[in-house]
Amino acid sequence: MGFSWLQAQERIPQVEELLGKMTLEEKIGQLNLLTPGGGVATGSVVSEDVEAKIRAGNVGGIFGVSSPEKVRQAQELAVKNSRLGIPLLIGSDVIHGYKTTFPIPLGLSSSWDMDLIEETAKVAAREATADGINWNFSPMVDISRDPRWGRVAEGAGEDAYLGSQVARAMVRGYQQDDLTRPETMIATVKHLALYGASEGGRDYNRVDMSRTKMFNEYLPPYKAAIDEGAASVMTSFNDIDGVPASGNKWLLTDLLRERWGFEGFVVSDYTSVNEMIAHGMGDLQDVSALAIKAGLDMDMVGEGFLTTLQKSVEEGRVSEEEITIAARRILEAKHKLGLLDDPYKYSDESRPERDILTDEHRKTARKAAASSFVLLKKHNNTLPLSKNAKIALVGPLANDKNNMLGTWAPTGDPSLSIPILEGFRNVAPNATVTYAKGANISDDPEYAKKVNVFGPRIEISEESPEELLKEAMDVVENADVVVAVVGEATEMSGEAASRTEISIPESQKKLIRELSQSGKPVVLVLMSGRPLTIPEEMQLPVSILQVWHPGVEAGNAIADVVFGDINPSGKLTATWPHNVGQIPIYYGMRTTGRPAASEEFEKFKSNYLDSPIAPLLPFGYGLSYTNFEYSDVKVSDNTLNSNGEIIVSATVANTGEYDGEEVVQLYIHDKVRSITPPMKELKGFQKINLKAGESQTVEFNISVEDLKFYNGNLEYVFEPGEFEFFVAGSSDGEFQGTFNLEE
Ligand code: BGC
Repeated sequence: MGFSWLQAQERIPQVEELLGKMTLEEKIGQLNLLTPGGGVATGSVVSEDVEAKIRAGNVGGIFGVSSPEKVRQAQELAVKNSRLGIPLLIGSDVIHGYKTTFPIPLGLSSSWDMDLIEETAKVAAREATADGINWNFSPMVDISRDPRWGRVAEGAGEDAYLGSQVARAMVRGYQQDDLTRPETMIATVKHLALYGASEGGRDYNRVDMSRTKMFNEYLPPYKAAIDEGAASVMTSFNDIDGVPASGNKWLLTDLLRERWGFEGFVVSDYTSVNEMIAHGMGDLQDVSALAIKAGLDMDMVGEGFLTTLQKSVEEGRVSEEEITIAARRILEAKHKLGLLDDPYKYSDESRPERDILTDEHRKTARKAAASSFVLLKKHNNTLPLSKNAKIALVGPLANDKNNMLGTWAPTGDPSLSIPILEGFRNVAPNATVTYAKGANISDDPEYAKKVNVFGPRIEISEESPEELLKEAMDVVENADVVVAVVGEATEMSGEAASRTEISIPESQKKLIRELSQSGKPVVLVLMSGRPLTIPEEMQLPVSILQVWHPGVEAGNAIADVVFGDINPSGKLTATWPHNVGQIPIYYGMRTTGRPAASEEFEKFKSNYLDSPIAPLLPFGYGLSYTNFEYSDVKVSDNTLNSNGEIIVSATVANTGEYDGEEVVQLYIHDKVRSITPPMKELKGFQKINLKAGESQTVEFNISVEDLKFYNGNLEYVFEPGEFEFFVAGSSDGEFQGTFNLEE
């Protein structure tokens, strides 16, 4: 086997020359990523003596440092003081915008608008690079079918096809196919791999999965990001087949390098090399050797490489060649960025003023937020509201700045966010808006303490819950309509924020029940970083608009939609269950041998005694102020040859009174194949704009490439036979036609 992939890539003379001059210690130094603090430390360790280590040539990159001045100082330390003067990679977590914070990724994915998603990544890159960053720890493309897992907020939901498109759009936005430009930065696809399948939805937990499921349902987005050119990969915390990702040779070498042809560098997650000790893989020297031999190039924060690799080489456990290979990859990344020629290219002091938080960027944030909202329920045409209405604006998130940005926005500034109350006044200055908090996000101080690690997210009022409720009901009495902004605080989702119970907290449920009995029309504006279980709220006589955590322009964007300047057009990218017991539940489940024909209970069918089988809200679901009708769904030819193409088309009509956008979705079902097929698979989507009364024919080209899958031998193949399809505005459609795939 050997290192066959190495031959594939051409050597870069500048890098080879540098490598030729380096001592073993200097090569090991390049493999070390440190954080002097200042960012968000997600582990218990923060690096010490970073300056001295940089001078000694013991550091390849740092993160948690920003601004042109500080980055220049750091580069000067490396360039002027270390023996070979090699500049540093400057990393950061720019997950959904830099200073101009966009909606959380799960929200962004709900826009199903790839150009928009790419644009947000491009803006993020412009801002971050203006502040000295050249390497981004994003996109996070982990598929998750478990809303208990808090990091479901950071990804694009449950589907590998959609997730792959989003992954590509983000890589394009960050890197723009040209890493030498000062407005672009290296994208890191993370977390390789399967992190979203942590058992029980508990963060950092183990993962166990069949290879066919991995290849068909979980790995495609990572591969798509790599095919799009992502220059780096981050490993995950979990184990795969019993070997933690950071030391998993099958994953990092056989799959990533040999099979996928990845040529960039691989970084560990925060101290994930050291954490292999707790996983039961040996002491620090053992796990560091395991990691480098598996194909990990850079060690984040843990310093296991720095402190043990030399010894392992001396003892013959690791070869110098293995270290050279990793060091080469780090240097090649620096070369790609142009840092070896100009270490200060991201230290232009005139840029922050010019490039960060511009009006243009804020406009993009406002548009992205509005596009991410999903109208979950319409009741009595309450929405959109009149701009002259008398509105009771209530709820713990209605006049709040601390929970608008969402999880993992360490570079954002909550004080810049527009609260909903302010947004309402901006967009509808003639409306009468009266505010009352009505309830705490949670009444439990112990819970609040856990959530408030990065600042006050749940603030428990000095007034009693009864007093808060009474104030709200007084305000409601004098209003025409009620808007209640409720849901999760920012840090109720995200890293290390798993929940076993994913409903709206009880303190707020009480408020919602009271409001729904007030006799006034009620709109729930629901914030969360994950799908929630809301069967009770769905039954109440209320309208529900899901807004995730919308980012810096939250209030303006919500007002744009609530007052009808923008018609909601988002669709769910993760299934919303009735209850936690249904999890995992997702639209693409594989067919069983005893499928239930309906919700009617039947003994010896695949169902529950105490719960529906169907989810509360399916993947792809989302309403609009207008109505869309689908007709004339057909296929151009009932036979598809393996070298040909057919077209599935549908006519979509806007039959309501508002202009609007619709995400038209194509699903297929492979009726017979050598491994059990999913019941449905998304194979195409288009977001179209239709004026009231207008209609359009939407076409999807299908070729054999769209019908391939990984078989039991993990070969990417197609199998001839019959396929069913439908075109609809959600995944819960009925099949409308068939075609035959022939050899
Ligand atoms: C997270 C990564 C992140 C890293 C650095 C870790 O805890 O899992 O997603 O990039 O910290 O901040």
